[in-house]
Amino acid sequence: MSLKQLNMNFGPNYKEYDIIGYSEKISEAITIIKTIAPTGLSVLISGESGTGKEIIAQLIHNLSDRKNHKFIPINCGAIPEGLIENELFGHEKGSYTSASEKSKGYFEVADKGTIFLDEIGELPLSSQVKLLRVLENGTFMKVGGSQNITVDVRIVAATNKNLLKMVEKGLFREDLYFRLKAVSLQLPSLRERLADIPLFVLKFAKDSAEKYKRTQLIFDKESFSEIANHQWKGNIRELKNFIDMLTVMETGKTVTGEIVRKYLKTETSSSLLPMLIRDNQPERDSELIFKTLLEIKNDLNLIKKFIFNSFTKEVSPSYFKDDIEEILDPSKEIKPNETLTEKDEISQVLKKYRGNRRRAAEELNMSERTLYRKIEKYGIET
Ligand SMILES: Nc1ncnc2c1ncn2[C@@H]1O[C@H](COP(=O)(O)OP(=O)(O)OP(=O)(O)O)[C@@H](O)[C@H]1O
Ligand SMILES: [Mg+2]
Repeated sequence: MSLKQLNMNFGPNYKEYDIIGYSEKISEAITIIKTIAPTGLSVLISGESGTGKEIIAQLIHNLSDRKNHKFIPINCGAIPEGLIENELFGHEKGSYTSASEKSKGYFEVADKGTIFLDEIGELPLSSQVKLLRVLENGTFMKVGGSQNITVDVRIVAATNKNLLKMVEKGLFREDLYFRLKAVSLQLPSLRERLADIPLFVLKFAKDSAEKYKRTQLIFDKESFSEIANHQWKGNIRELKNFIDMLTVMETGKTVTGEIVRKYLKTETSSSLLPMLIRDNQPERDSELIFKTLLEIKNDLNLIKKFIFNSFTKEVSPSYFKDDIEEILDPSKEIKPNETLTEKDEISQVLKKYRGNRRRAAEELNMSERTLYRKIEKYGIET
């Protein structure tokens, strides 16, 4: 099969935009992006960790007439509070004890381009005022400076927090919130796009084999089912790292359900393991691979095995081509509320035991700790 054919099978937005998937929400987001990219409107992208916020921000830049200027991604959560204004706006010589030279901040460097402010919810309130001013009239002052500097920068911001709730709690400025969300994009979690999972798995398996110079993995029916039933809290990034790890650890093998279970249900708890937060994407990715290796997967897979029954033989890219239409029939897309059976099940069991979490956990075959997390996650009243 030619690469072109394969590319087409990665979804309607793959060939042109490198965005994998048949998810309606993603296609809707791309339609909006095509319309607003050429304007200078600010965009607020929300979505859980690893749902593709950064690649969507980059796409907005690439489709705009700013594409020949800089795209600067900044993780607001990774810069210490005291340094953030220096980084964003630069400083004048002598503005603080060790400032021996004046420096340009990202806003000056990104003039005519795009700044991607990731984890915008982490931006300190004091810096939010300054950001609002640049957004309003394109001007700012360097730290220790007294001159207004004018720039033309488009802001795309991202958050995995509920900014509106932060506004209500006084943790985020309301005026900035409304200014940022001139256009809002909500990216779906992997559980809301289960039908896209085989695409991601096969694409990442292909990429990993090239990256690590290994034989490309083949996945059997049960392995897909196990992967689809797993709760990917780190979404696409976590899935990608998992496939990287499998490519390295199980090279040349046909991945079976048992192999997947072996890695997804290890005994150690990664939530207890420290993980360095790095600014650097490759390092973050490889750390996540190791984190995945050690991750606790005691959470029971309560989501029913309702998809991918169409897999009746081993799946390889060539098989994939023949069956892709059936597998990816959009009518088979799993809607988010169909995946919420776990919440209902937990609620019912809790009711049965009148809120006794220990007994409920026993019946649900999960640890009490996992049950507590799920109660919190789903907002179940007990
Ligand atoms: N639709 C997609 N097609 C192909 N690759 C994707 C897609 N969405 C996400 N990815 C890949 O998944 C990984 C995570 O994406 P990205 O960094 O954009 O997520 P994020 O939402 O910014 O995550 P975080 O909240 O952790 O910063 C990247 O390796 C990215 O290339
Ligand atoms: Mg990101």
